[in-house]
Amino acid sequence: MSNYLIRGATFPDGTAKDLAVENGLIVEKTENAEVIDAEGLRLLPGLVDLHTHLRQPGREDAETIETGSRAAALGGYTAVCAMANTDPVADAAGIVEQVWRLGREVGLVDVQPIGAVTLGLNGERLAELGAMAESAARVRVFSDDGHCVHDAAVMRRALEYVKAFDGVIAQHAEDPKLTVGAQMNEGEQSAQLGLAGWPAVAEEAIIARDALLAAHVGSRLHVCHVSTAGSVEVLRWAKGRGIRVTAEVTPHHLLLTDELAATYDPVYKVNPPLRTAEDVTALREALADGTIDAVATDHAPHAREDKECEWAAARPGMLGLETALPIVIRTMVETGLLDWQGVADRMSHAPARIAGLTGLTGNGRATSGAGAHGRPLAVGEPANLTLVDPSARWTVTPDGLASISRNTPYAGLELPGTIVATFLRGRPTVLDGKAQA
Ligand code: DOR
Repeated sequence: MSNYLIRGATFPDGTAKDLAVENGLIVEKTENAEVIDAEGLRLLPGLVDLHTHLRQPGREDAETIETGSRAAALGGYTAVCAMANTDPVADAAGIVEQVWRLGREVGLVDVQPIGAVTLGLNGERLAELGAMAESAARVRVFSDDGHCVHDAAVMRRALEYVKAFDGVIAQHAEDPKLTVGAQMNEGEQSAQLGLAGWPAVAEEAIIARDALLAAHVGSRLHVCHVSTAGSVEVLRWAKGRGIRVTAEVTPHHLLLTDELAATYDPVYKVNPPLRTAEDVTALREALADGTIDAVATDHAPHAREDKECEWAAARPGMLGLETALPIVIRTMVETGLLDWQGVADRMSHAPARIAGLTGLTGNGRATSGAGAHGRPLAVGEPANLTLVDPSARWTVTPDGLASISRNTPYAGLELPGTIVATFLRGRPTVLDGKAQA
């Protein structure tokens, strides 16, 4: 393994200095190192994604663990949490172990599987949470994402179960009874377009219910892809009461609005739907003040036939891994809402903490099967790093992305910030903007 000297990089706190890497760790100094001139570049702890759909097993025509890992590394990530809505569903130890092993074999990012909450995502019977937690993958996050755990009794039992190993239930907050046939955000736009609406209350009511359940049980709740101003208010209330709830927002909900549905281009169809400009403003403010803890991509690759069709027939979801940091720079840094320390927190430290990936033990037991992420940029820590050129501009071209799928909503858009290098435990997975293997 080579040694690296990253020269003159600007750390999240704004100081510019050198960083030496040897045997996978950040060290005081190193000899005979490969020098990377990082003058003018920003150094961040390797990004961590709480919410990635890698589609393997089952839909390898849309994405594989290998292509998704490459997209992640190119986006500056060193760890991603792989969602459970695969085929078969990741609801048993054998499946999460398979995903974890395949991630290790590819070796471009640490792939930390998320286990399903209920068998087959059917919302009725709990999956093998304990067996998944004890497996080689050491699952700590459980989610039926794509589906809401809508039965309050099932949600309560799941929260109780994961308490034993400091696990967390990541809820896709959507009351299914309120979103039957829904195609887009319910509001002025949906009325004009004649598309069935998806009311904000369907999300907000579940977050409020689950926060109360988490308080009752004394367990940890995480809310996936928060999308409305009302959800922010509920989260603020819950956190104010000391309830153990965390939340994520996607880059697309920080930038795009429901007016895009007027194009009838299914690339803009996503679950939860794009909301209003007022919601976008509230989400940005909540991410800035910490009410929303983390940015998570909800990277949702879909095969052409599932997206290049009429709106109603299209699957919801957008690519996100390769554009996440640039969107955050545009919406949060360039607007003055977040500094780079804030970016490091919302895209690395906080998601790693929520997913139990920091390598610290929770409840006295070993944490997840992945290495330590979201750690400080300090001597002795694993060299999981992202080097960003904040002044570079690039234009998104779907064919230029590493993902198998092409469903990016940003085609043709010029974005700030390129990933120059990504290091996973001291090994470059991206160098000079190119994936290594
Ligand atoms: O848009 C979405 N796509 N939202 C989800 O919750 C699921 C995801 C998918 O799996 O495609």
